[in-house]
Parts: sequence; structure tokens; C-alpha cells
Amino acid sequence: MDALLIEGPSKLSGKVEVSGSKNSALPLLFASILFDGKVTFENIPRLWDIETTLKLLELMGCRTEWEKEVGRVSVFPEVKTKVAPYDQVKKMRAGILALGPLVAKYGEAKVSLPGGCAIGARPVNYHIEALRKMGVRVEVEEGYIHASVKDKLVGTEILFPEVTVTGTENLLYVGVMAEGTTVLQNSACEPEVVALGEFLKSCGANISGLGTPTITIEGGGLKLPSQPVQIPPDRIEAGTWVSISLATRSPLEINHCDASKMTSVLAAFRQMGAKIEERNQGTTLKVTPAEIYHPLHIETAPYPGFPTDMQAQILTLLCLAQGRSTVVESIFENRFMHVAELRRLGAQIEVNGNVATVEGPVEFQGAPIMATDLRASACLVLAGLTSKGSTRVSRLYHLDRGYQRLDEKLRRLGAKITRVAE
Ligand code: EPU
Repeated sequence: MDALLIEGPSKLSGKVEVSGSKNSALPLLFASILFDGKVTFENIPRLWDIETTLKLLELMGCRTEWEKEVGRVSVFPEVKTKVAPYDQVKKMRAGILALGPLVAKYGEAKVSLPGGCAIGARPVNYHIEALRKMGVRVEVEEGYIHASVKDKLVGTEILFPEVTVTGTENLLYVGVMAEGTTVLQNSACEPEVVALGEFLKSCGANISGLGTPTITIEGGGLKLPSQPVQIPPDRIEAGTWVSISLATRSPLEINHCDASKMTSVLAAFRQMGAKIEERNQGTTLKVTPAEIYHPLHIETAPYPGFPTDMQAQILTLLCLAQGRSTVVESIFENRFMHVAELRRLGAQIEVNGNVATVEGPVEFQGAPIMATDLRASACLVLAGLTSKGSTRVSRLYHLDRGYQRLDEKLRRLGAKITRVAE
């Protein structure tokens, strides 16, 4: 595993390009299982989670081609084995996205239960209950979900007890291949869900209500996409760059964004005192940091609320604000693992249940720290860039799962950051 050595505090300048969205690319790649011919994707980010997804598709019998330098992936979906094994799903919980397409297209699937992870238990019971309502027999045995369609997939009304992003995505795949009408209530409004739905619509699916809590799907199958599928920009990476600009007090130009999908995040940064200009129809953000940042009260929530995937980054930034901030994590029960590491750099944060109270401003001092999950890694790099002296961020594996070459992009902006093998 690699580690990052950061000499701070960093002063950055210049322009940075946001890569394609991980959480959009994964469900779109799994959607290729639904087709009988080649599907091509563009703007695919170079991430470990993409490697894992392609490996999973290959283990099922699909052929894949990844032109890494140009970000193009072609999948030839020749599925022979309808299995997503533990070895891959344990590396990436999004492996659960194999369940919906396999059931929808082939009527059967054996998918490893993802198990818990550093941020919470993360059960998949809502996926399973919804599939059962659609006419699927589902047994959980020896760590695997065994699913088989009893007679046929039948559209029905499903009410998700909580908003679930991958749960909604799994039901979109199944709904488009089912007979009759499927209504998903309390479905996720995340842009990544909308992107999957729009792609399915471009292949002939009849779906309405995308981006709202009620999605209606008229089943009826799909036709092969005629164009390469474009992966939208990563709104979480873009938000992470804004936080890097603000924490290092370095004006940056962030390109290839979609500001319209970042409203709650940009509002929070602006409330702290940042100046953020949206240019070129919101595809460029010009960030001007402030001398003094105001404290905030933030609660994570499903889209369009403040995303849990930006919680670690804003928590780190709030350590630099004048006064007391509070951050409530409402989505995952254990997503404050980064706090103990931030404390090693000098952060003053108390966690009580799902509420973190931050006292600022502090001056971070470099120290060895360890990444615990993907977004936690980003916040530790952010803190390292802001710290005086040397910071070593270990267990970089997590960062590489979800950020395309963050260290290379940072180096180009002037950061003193080196990758070393551990
Ligand atoms: N939940 C259940 N049962 C279920 C499904 C969800 O109890 O069957 C609970 C979860 O435990 C959690 C809440 O519902 O408390 C929401 O979880 P959700 O299902 O929405 O999360 P997910 O689909 O597993 C996706 C992203 C995450 C992101 C969350 C929330 C992908 C591949 N992953 O996960 O991304 O944090 O939605 O927005 O889309 C990341 O990129 O770092 C990441 C963790």
C-alpha cells in the first residue's frame, strides 16, 4: 500500500480538471449487463473501484476494454456466470449493483453480501425487500444473496423506508425489464440516480419522475445505446477541490464541474465567507478564499441536502473557522473515524453520537495519520496540505478507490506531495 508525504503549509495556484463521477460510472457500467451488445462509456475516471467493477464483469464472462489515457471503456456483456463473488464485493460495496441487472436480464443472481465497512453497517435489506415485492425469490445463505425470479418480474409499488441511492438504482434496472408499472416511493434524488435513469430512457425505457421522490417506470425492455455513454463530472471531487482551495487559502479555478448539482455545498462554503463564481454555465468555479471563515451548523441529508460524502472535508475546513461549528451526520452511523486522525494534527473536535462539535480556529501541525475510508482520506490530505511541517497519510488505498490521481493534480498546482510505497 502507498502513503503520501506532504510538506505543508501549501500554497497552490492554477487550474484543475474534475474527473468523471465514480458514483455515476459504477451504476452505468453495471447497466451494461442489461444489453446484448457492446456498450461504450466515456469520461471514465482512473480509479480502483472501476478496476474492481470491470474485474467483476469479467468474472461473469463479459469482455472489457479500458483505454485509460482517454477514459473510454467498452463492455461486451457476454454473461455466463451470474455471480458476484465475495473477493470483489468486499473491496467495493457497490458490487451490490450487480444484483439488479442480473435479476432483470437473466432472472437469477448470486451476489455476495457486502458486509459492513468503516462508515457503518450498511445493510442491503431495502434492496432485498423491494426485489421480493417484484416477484423475486431471495434467500440469504452463507454470506450470499441468492435471487431468482419466481415466474416473471412484475411491476408494483415500492416504498423505501429510507432514501437509498444504490437501492433505487437496483430497482431502476429491474423496473425497466419488468412487466407493468413500477412506482418507487421515497426514491433517491441524487444526480447519479438521475444519470442512470436518463441513460435507460435514452435506450427506450419509459421512466418519469427522475430527480423526485416518486419515480414511475413502465416496463418493456431496452434497445442497445447508439452513442457512447458520457459519465458526468464528479460533484464530490469538485467540492473537495473547493475545500482544498479554501483551506490552503489558494485561489483556484476548477474546471469540468456541474455547479447546478452542488447547490447545498456551494451555499455552505459561501456562508463560511468564500467567494465562488460560477462561469461557463456552471462548468467552471473560480474560488477566492477569505481571511476569516465563519463557523456553521451543517446536517448531512439525501440530495439536495448537504452530502455525507462532503462531511469529512467541511469538518476539516471548519477547524479553521472562528468559533464553534456543529456537524450532524444523518446518513451513516459511524462516519466520524477521521476525527481521531484530525485530532492528531491538532483539531479540537468532540463527537457525541452523530454530532461533531468543532472549536476553531486551530493551526494544524503535521503528524503521521491513517486513512480509514474514502472521503476520510480526502480530508486527511486536505488537513496535511494545511499543516505546518510533514504529514504522512498512510493506507492510501482508500483515496485511490475514489479520486483520480489526487496527488498528481495537487503537485501540478504546486503542492509538495510525494507518493511512497509502505
Ligand atoms: N440502508 C439500509 N438498508 C438498505 C440500504 C440502505 O439500512 O438496504 C441505510 C444505510 O445503512 C445508510 C442509508 O440507508 O444509513 C443510506 O444508504 P444508501 O443506500 O443511500 O448508500 P449506498 O447506496 O450504499 C451511496 C454511495 C455512497 C454515499 C451514499 C449516500 C455509491 C456507490 N455509493 O451508497 O458513496 O455515501 O450513497 O449518499 O453510490 C462514497 O462515494 O464515498 C460513498 C460512500
